[in-house]
Amino acid sequence: MKKRTAIVVGNWKMNVTIKEAIRLVTELKGMLSGKQEVEVVVAPDYISLHPVCIALQDVKIGVAAQNMFWEDSGAYTGEVSAAMLLDVGCSYVILGHSERRQHFGETDQQVRTKLKSALDQDLVPIICVGETLQQRQKNQTADVVERQLSEIFQGVNYISGDDFIVAYEPIWAIGTGNTASPEQAQEMHGLIRKKLAHIFRSDVAEQVRVIYGGSVTPENAGPLMKMPDVDGLLVGGASLEPKDFVRIVFHNEQEESE
Ligand code: PGA
Repeated sequence: MKKRTAIVVGNWKMNVTIKEAIRLVTELKGMLSGKQEVEVVVAPDYISLHPVCIALQDVKIGVAAQNMFWEDSGAYTGEVSAAMLLDVGCSYVILGHSERRQHFGETDQQVRTKLKSALDQDLVPIICVGETLQQRQKNQTADVVERQLSEIFQGVNYISGDDFIVAYEPIWAIGTGNTASPEQAQEMHGLIRKKLAHIFRSDVAEQVRVIYGGSVTPENAGPLMKMPDVDGLLVGGASLEPKDFVRIVFHNEQEESE
């Protein structure tokens, strides 16, 4: 048994309408008893956040936003603040997803500013880091991820391991069907924890949850979660199919009955 509570987060990205979002959570509610050991979180788009939060009011499924802006309020057309996410009922926010970096030019500095704003509002950020295929092939993986962590956490003080989550998401694994092997994931998760001990303290690094994302399926969830430093999963594609998502949530039970 790991001492950190496992967490499985479903990132729906820009894939569902409000009606489909409600159908998804209704099915999930029917399949999850709330007694599972794993913490379950869904991340709808901004538009579906409100109806999803209302639909999940009476159950133990958390809600995350997929992004946010760093200011609390003001003339920022099209943006949504941490305070607004808290108001709608979110407890988590995904920050620095590689798709935001790739398509919207988001930088580590911007992720840092967002992170500080989320922490100020007691919203738990799920901070994404990870290397490209080219960087991995050039043996730059450790350097790239360590640099991302240094940049993102620069000037962040007084943090506890409960205040945030780090998601290791190798870019080459996202939406490609090429999952990192459990050993590759463990190597990077161990390195991330070591780096966090260096940036903060060892107790923060021991307590923080480091989760894996990139082509997670019901088949590979169990072997990935067996790794000592893999504390959870960030699931994209497979989270849109409730049966698959629930099989990922119950990866332990599934393994035991095999
Ligand atoms: P995927 O996405 O599971 O579809 O690879 C993961 C993610 O982007 O978080």
